[in-house]
Amino acid sequence: MPEDFVVTPWEVTGEVDYDELMRRFGTQAVDDALMARIKKHTGDLHPLLERGLFFSHRDMNWILDEYEKGNKFALYTGRGPSSGIHIGHMVPWIFTRWLQEKFRVPLWFQITDDEKFWFRDFEKLEESNKIAYDNILDLIAIGFDPKLTKIFIDTEYIRHLYPLAAQIAKRVTFSTAKAVFGFDESFNIGQIFYTALQSVPCFLPSVDAGKNVPVLIPCGIDQDPHFRVTRDLAERLGYYKPAGLYNKLMPGLLGLQSKMSTSRPETAIFATDTEKAMRKKIANAFTGGRASVEEQRRLGANPDICSVFAYYTYLFAPKDDYLADVERTCRSGERLCGDCKKELADHVAKFLATHQERREKARDRIEEFVIRD
Ligand code: TYM
Repeated sequence: MPEDFVVTPWEVTGEVDYDELMRRFGTQAVDDALMARIKKHTGDLHPLLERGLFFSHRDMNWILDEYEKGNKFALYTGRGPSSGIHIGHMVPWIFTRWLQEKFRVPLWFQITDDEKFWFRDFEKLEESNKIAYDNILDLIAIGFDPKLTKIFIDTEYIRHLYPLAAQIAKRVTFSTAKAVFGFDESFNIGQIFYTALQSVPCFLPSVDAGKNVPVLIPCGIDQDPHFRVTRDLAERLGYYKPAGLYNKLMPGLLGLQSKMSTSRPETAIFATDTEKAMRKKIANAFTGGRASVEEQRRLGANPDICSVFAYYTYLFAPKDDYLADVERTCRSGERLCGDCKKELADHVAKFLATHQERREKARDRIEEFVIRD
C-alpha cells in the first residue's frame, strides 16, 4: 500500500492521490463537458486546464449558469507572505490572469500577513508585511489588469474586513476548526481565528456591490478546507456559497512526492533566483532516468515519475506537440536526462529573465493595485 499523504492549507506531505483527495474533500472533477462549456466563452483552453492540472472544482457549472444569465462573477485568490515566491505559487496566478482576461472580471487578491505571522516563527508582524510588499512585485509582474484588480494586505485593510470576519467567526465553533484543520490546545488563538479572515473576500465583492455577486476562487486545492467552512455558513449570512477551481500542487525538483517548498530551497525555483542558482537546482533534479546512458538508450526513461517532465507539463511546454515530443523521446531513449534538464533550464532562464524585468518595473506601480483602509 502506498504511504498515506496529507494535504492541509499548511502542510502537504507524501505523494498526493488526487482522486482520493477529491473524495476526501468532496470536490468534483473537471470533466470534458465542463471544459467544453468553459471553452464556449474563452475560445480556447489554457494548457493548465486542458492537461488536467486545474483538475477539480466546486460549483463551476453554477458560476457559468449565472454568467450566461448576465450575472458576472468576481475572482478571489491570495497569498500568505512567508517568503519569496516560487514557481509553484505562480501556477494559480497565471491561470487566474487568464480567467480575468477571458471573462473580463474583477479580481480581489488577499495577502495574509497576519496568517503568516501567526503560523510562522516571525518575531515581528512587520516581517511578513515586508514580504507582502516584495510578493506584490511578483503579482504585478504576472500581468493582472490594474483596472480590474484590487490587492489588499490584511493588516492594512482590516477596517473593511473586520465586520465580515466578526460575523463569520461567530458561526465557526472551535470544534469545527479542530475537525477541519486539526488544531489542538497548543495552537495560538490567532491561528484558530484565521479561517474567518480567509473567508471574508468570498463576500466582500457582494458588500462592495451592494448586491450578491458570485465568487470564483482559482487556487491550489490545499486551500479548499477554508472554503468548505465558508460554504457551510454563507447562506446563513445571506450570501452565495463561493465556487472553487483547484489546481494540483506542482512537485518539487527532488521527486513527485516532494512539494515545492520554501523551507527547502533546493526543491523550488524562486522568482528571484539567479540563472546560475536555477541551473544548478535543475541539474540536481530527480528524473525518471536509468542508471547508465547505455541502459537509457536501450530501455528509455520514465517521465511519469520525473520532476523535470512535470516542470515541462505545468509551465514550460505551452505547445502540446512539443510536450508530446519531449515525452516520446524520453520514453524511447532518444533523449538523455542531462540534455533534457539543460533544455528545461533554457526555458526557465527565459521565463525568469522576463519575470524579473517586469518585477523591477512593478516597483513604481504598486499604488495602481493596492487598496487600503
Ligand atoms: P500560499 O501563499 O501558501 O500559496 C499561494 C497559492 O499558491 C498555491 N500553491 C501552489 N500551487 C501549485 N503548486 C505548488 N507547489 C503550490 N504551492 C502553493 C496555493 O494553493 C495558493 O493558491 N492562506 C493562503 C493565502 C490566501 C489564499 C486565499 C490562497 C488567502 N486567501 C484565497 C488562495 C485563495 C496561503 O498561505 O497561500
